[in-house]
Amino acid sequence: MQHFLQISDLSRQQVEALIERALFFKQTGQFPSYQNRAVANLFYENSTRTRVSFELAAKNMQISVINLDLQTSSEQKGEVIEDTIKTIAAMGISSVVIRHKQDGLPQLLAERCLNDSLHIINAGDGQHAHPSQAMLDMMTIVASKPKLDQLKIAVVGDVRHSRVVHSLQALCALMGIGELVMVAPELWQPDVISFGRVTTSLKEGLEDADVVMCLRVQRERLLETEQLDLEHYRAHYAITPKTLSYARSDALLMHPGPMNRGVEIDSEVADGAQSVILKQVQHGVFMRMAILELFC
Ligand code: NCD
Repeated sequence: MQHFLQISDLSRQQVEALIERALFFKQTGQFPSYQNRAVANLFYENSTRTRVSFELAAKNMQISVINLDLQTSSEQKGEVIEDTIKTIAAMGISSVVIRHKQDGLPQLLAERCLNDSLHIINAGDGQHAHPSQAMLDMMTIVASKPKLDQLKIAVVGDVRHSRVVHSLQALCALMGIGELVMVAPELWQPDVISFGRVTTSLKEGLEDADVVMCLRVQRERLLETEQLDLEHYRAHYAITPKTLSYARSDALLMHPGPMNRGVEIDSEVADGAQSVILKQVQHGVFMRMAILELFC
């Protein structure tokens, strides 16, 4: 594998090997050292947890990290970024972690910056894909509920704009998840789904679910015609102690973060016994170590 762009580029064996490696890092605390390696973080979109997670993952393995200061260049287009990548590659950086608002940009850059020793890692592109998030989510699910073919996963919220869900659909299909249900008001339902089904009913969607993944209301991505009254949304779709009880009593509660507490999720459940939200964050570092290691 030369790049880490989207889940559909991976085989089930590769996914299993990455999860196994990440769990090994978590369980043993034994981290390999790749002192002669360097990775660049190119984040053209706001991010705290994903950027820090990739940075920590690299540092845990003695990989040097270069964070490019891109604050003033968030509108940069593909051609300029291509030059940036070629420039840093010429300095000896072999892995580039990129987040950008344009769907498909990491793939485009991978095609344009042809160089066998350069690896592009997608840290979220527009509304298209967020493969490392899907991988850390799957790791979190596998760690607690390993019988994947018997699981029902319910994803709730702004499914339409969520790159997390697009990657999760592909990963659930690949891993043979029993059932994936996406719960969303009609305006926030996706036009195309690759795996699973969609419902508008929170109660029906959550019934017997083993995993409930709550999504952020992505205000910055909503078009004029996609606006919903947030009070109305809350009344029908928020994850609260009452609505979480529609799922199995041992269901895991997940959220990719950042959370809008009091909008799509209540603090009582976000900080409650079923929540694995901080475990997702913890697993993110180990999973990104396994991903970075592919290219060391
Ligand atoms: C997600 C993202 O950026 O796509 N968050 C993340 O990576 N931690 C989800 C979101 O922004 O809601």
